[in-house]
Amino acid sequence: MTTPSGAAGEAGGVGGGSGGIDSTLVENRRFEPPDAGALGVGRWHVGSAEEYRRLHEESLADPEGFWGKEAGRLAWFRGWEKVLEWEAPDARWFVGGTLNACYNCVDRHVQAGHGEDVAIIWEGEPVGPVTSHASPGSKYAAEPEVRRVTYRELQEQTSRCANALRSMGVKKGDVVTIYMPMVPELAVAVLACARLGAAHSVIFGGFAPHAIKERVADAGSRVIVTADGGYRRGEVVPLQKNVEEAASALSGEGHRVEHVLVLKRTGHELPSRRFNTGSVGAGGAVYHWWHEAVGGASDACPCVEVGSEDMLFLLYTSGSTGKPKGIVHTTGGYLVYAGMTARLTFNLMPDAGQVFWCTADVGWITGHSYVVYGVMMNRVPTVMYEGAPNFPGNDRFWSVIARHRVTHFYTAPTAIRTFMKWGDDLPAKHDLSSLRILGTVGEPINPEAWVWYRRHIGWDRCPVVDTYWQTETGGHVCTPLPGAVATKPGSCTVPMPGIDAAVVNERGEEMPAGRGGLFVIRRPWPGMLRGVHGNRERFVSNYWGRVKDPATGEPYYFSADGARRDADGYFWVQGRIDDVIKVSGHLLGTMEVESALVSHPGVAEAAVVGMPHEIKGSAICAFVTLKPAWLRSEGREPGESLKKELASHVAREVGALARPDQVRFAEALPKTRSGKIMRRLLRDVAAGVEKITQDTTTLEDFSVVSRLREDED
Ligand code: PRX
Repeated sequence: MTTPSGAAGEAGGVGGGSGGIDSTLVENRRFEPPDAGALGVGRWHVGSAEEYRRLHEESLADPEGFWGKEAGRLAWFRGWEKVLEWEAPDARWFVGGTLNACYNCVDRHVQAGHGEDVAIIWEGEPVGPVTSHASPGSKYAAEPEVRRVTYRELQEQTSRCANALRSMGVKKGDVVTIYMPMVPELAVAVLACARLGAAHSVIFGGFAPHAIKERVADAGSRVIVTADGGYRRGEVVPLQKNVEEAASALSGEGHRVEHVLVLKRTGHELPSRRFNTGSVGAGGAVYHWWHEAVGGASDACPCVEVGSEDMLFLLYTSGSTGKPKGIVHTTGGYLVYAGMTARLTFNLMPDAGQVFWCTADVGWITGHSYVVYGVMMNRVPTVMYEGAPNFPGNDRFWSVIARHRVTHFYTAPTAIRTFMKWGDDLPAKHDLSSLRILGTVGEPINPEAWVWYRRHIGWDRCPVVDTYWQTETGGHVCTPLPGAVATKPGSCTVPMPGIDAAVVNERGEEMPAGRGGLFVIRRPWPGMLRGVHGNRERFVSNYWGRVKDPATGEPYYFSADGARRDADGYFWVQGRIDDVIKVSGHLLGTMEVESALVSHPGVAEAAVVGMPHEIKGSAICAFVTLKPAWLRSEGREPGESLKKELASHVAREVGALARPDQVRFAEALPKTRSGKIMRRLLRDVAAGVEKITQDTTTLEDFSVVSRLREDED
């Protein structure tokens, strides 16, 4: 396959049909950057198109000078000797330099006299006249619980937590797994690892025990930080229970989790399941309560000096094989890039009354870079909200903005489309006058949602920054800078200073304006991934093996996204061209879902494809062939109840976000003569583009359509 077929059609209205990647969309609206004074932001870091152009040109003409200057904004224990050592695809940034990430986010602000500044504004989910799941019959308070954590408190808590982790044997170079709700202690745990020079691997709280197990084993993690539960839409998510299941399964496979540190957040467990700190529990691990282990630890813990290229974290993301990839980010380069992109994209500045709210969970890269690291490095308060956008009502987010006078709001297209559906009257009921800049991330945004966002949330005055990037890039790679770059709804506009982005064909030649191709980055940048944990081959072939500089043969970084540039040089990302789907902005490997399906005893074979979905961008459609012998022996029918059972099976194995929206049974999956599943055909069938004669309530027969399309792939 040489063209990113199919993916473009899934791109929420941005992009062409399934037959190719040439876009048919013509979007002519354009919004000029607002005047800083009129918007009330004081000043712009980059204040005109000309200034942006100059900065971008200079950054590419003298990358070492540019990145050296950016790195100078961080606090280093020892300065670097060389900005970059590049032997494709391996980059070493700020070679010889030593630093500490927690020091850069917390301690240096305290030392500079800002210890009493607010670092985190946290709001818990429970609120309003609803019956508590935790204690039936009781009511939540009318006002939500709010905590403001200062840099001094954060310094103290990260020190205590680091000492507690150290007493469990955690040291520089280890990987600590974190599986927690969105509470301040999640940020504390992340920063405490950094304080010790240990790497963290944060797993999103929506993942199921099997997914935890896979990630813990791959990372070789011996210590897990979790909570008894977390609140989500008024319910308790049983996090500790999921960890216990994962730890038990791991011990059966010869991997022992040694310690589990548990924050008591919900206190919902019955006495029979409670434990005492220090007791051995599921999987043979020793369990510790946070309030005892962290609360009782010393508050003195100097930040450990680490090398610029020492690993800061692992973050698992889905790929086109069934196994998630542990993306490796290192300390110096990631921090420089997260700090710079946060500052430029959102015009962050301390002491300017800014309040930054990114709604992503810290379990995703967006939460790493724009809830924790990038924002804290810029000394701007970061908002963490624990729960769902529709609890207790559909206007919860707008009340959070009004309550905390949020100036920057950063969310995902799927959320924006949901807000649109919920109605204009909900944001209109709240005071959103504090907002200055709006951001979006995670998938292509359809222009209609973009314009709605600008009008109903930004009151037609806040610029909207559509930030295109990936787990692998560490921070934004294409985005408008709000004071400098005119925006067009649906376009992520122009590259970040320092980023040499292009749309090319398979030979690495740049595509003419308007023509679709592959989105590549032609030279290294500090935030780039340094590897896939334990899998060199995957790192090299996935990202660096596909496109080369036609003149020098040097590999380009390939993002696996299709894109085009318009006549103004603006980028329009069309979507993934590999076998991953973006569901509500979250990456899911089709293979992951397929493996979960075939682990069900009744399933012989499964193929999973994305189909367009109004709110989620893409939804999951699973085509399944069943084992006739199993149906007979169990006395089952291939009907609705089995479809539901299979969908729940996937949710249990991978997590709720992987639950298929549609399960369809087929006699046999359509295959080419060489035996490859005809995914494009399945995508067309799922999208309703290609009809097959039978109705979908019975077994579908692909034999006719697939014979007509034998030439595919
Ligand atoms: O397909 C692109 C899409 O999300 C992918 C990266 O997903 P992940 O690593 O989970 O990181 C999400 C948060 C950065 C990309 O390959 N994507 C992300 N942002 C955009 C986007 N597609 C279009 N426009 C965006 N703004």
